[in-house]
Amino acid sequence: MADQTRSTRSPRTLAAQALGAIDPETRAIVPPLHVATTYLRDPDNQYRSGYSYGRPDNATVRQAEAVLAALEGADGALLFGSGMAAATAVVLALDPPAHIVAPRVMYWALRHWLTNDAPRYGHRVELVDTSDLAALERTVRPGETRLVWIETPANPLWTVTDIAAAAEIAHRAGALLAVDSTVATPLLTRPLALGADIVMHSASKYLNGHSDVIAGALATARPDSGPWQRIVALRARHGAILGPFEAWLLMRGMRTLPVRVKAACESAADLAARFARHPAIAQVLYPGLPGHPGHAIAARQMTGGFGGMLSVRVKAGEASAIDAAARVEVWKRATSLGGVESLIEHRASVEGPDTPCPPDLLRLSVGLEDADDLYADLDRALRAANA
Ligand SMILES: Cc1ncc(COP(=O)(O)O)c(C=O)c1O
Repeated sequence: MADQTRSTRSPRTLAAQALGAIDPETRAIVPPLHVATTYLRDPDNQYRSGYSYGRPDNATVRQAEAVLAALEGADGALLFGSGMAAATAVVLALDPPAHIVAPRVMYWALRHWLTNDAPRYGHRVELVDTSDLAALERTVRPGETRLVWIETPANPLWTVTDIAAAAEIAHRAGALLAVDSTVATPLLTRPLALGADIVMHSASKYLNGHSDVIAGALATARPDSGPWQRIVALRARHGAILGPFEAWLLMRGMRTLPVRVKAACESAADLAARFARHPAIAQVLYPGLPGHPGHAIAARQMTGGFGGMLSVRVKAGEASAIDAAARVEVWKRATSLGGVESLIEHRASVEGPDTPCPPDLLRLSVGLEDADDLYADLDRALRAANA
């Protein structure tokens, strides 16, 4: 495959053609699915193909990694069996005891793992509002903090953190900055260009986009660096690599990423504006709305849209929010995000008692349906719930 990682072609062209990969054997324009777990050793005892066994590496996985690297403007990418496997690999690759700073508002299962499980590996985790740069600066400990983790926009309030400023703060303290960019996607934000060391995605979401693959990804601008090499080794030893079929599906999903993200952004912006005027809704949380606390930074670091995720707070409270979610027909009542179908979720029910998520909040993942159908469906459900 031609190395197009640093191509000047647009992400839409790179994605649509999966970097233009042509199978050298057959000239097929769709990359083959390599399922072999083991490879023939050369007679002189070498492995010149670069492949020896399926746990450290796989050709289909590598092709999908190359597409992601090109989209992120990265020099290295690694795919994992889930977003959680990718995120936890970053932490497990640190030498203990490491001080880790992470956001209060973030994907709840990772926050739970960081606060409950990471200490069992010898690490100390401190949570802070990372959108408050002064608070972040006070929380990092020079020479002691090894990792600053941020998520932007962050679940489920879509809190925005200034990536370039967070990178400066992390680097001054001698720490790495890792960014969960799942919701922004490589189309809207390029964290590495803003100074981040590692970008993480739950590829189960927008990258794959069809709610049929669980996958995770990391990308870096410095694949030769010590921390990245430890992550590479850890993925191989822990056996956390993505399966070939999932990688193949993910590559197919990434081919349409730019058009899916564009459509989701347009519908989400439209719905956010309309629901902001709805009589049953107290507040719409969407970084694209001028009243959102992170709007100015989002406008600076997100290009081409503010994402397909928003949350609404129902005026009549939690019971009414749950009732409205029970009455929708076009929106599907389910967890996850970033698929072609729109999803609605009473988020506090998922996150449990220690969540910063307000109980009256419904999280909306806007898919590819007609925005008028989505509006009419939730409008009807909200009115019926309040009747
Ligand atoms: C923002 C974000 N990060 C990480 C994850 C974890 O990814 P996975 O479910 O692929 O393990 C999720 C999953 O919901 C997520 O939404």
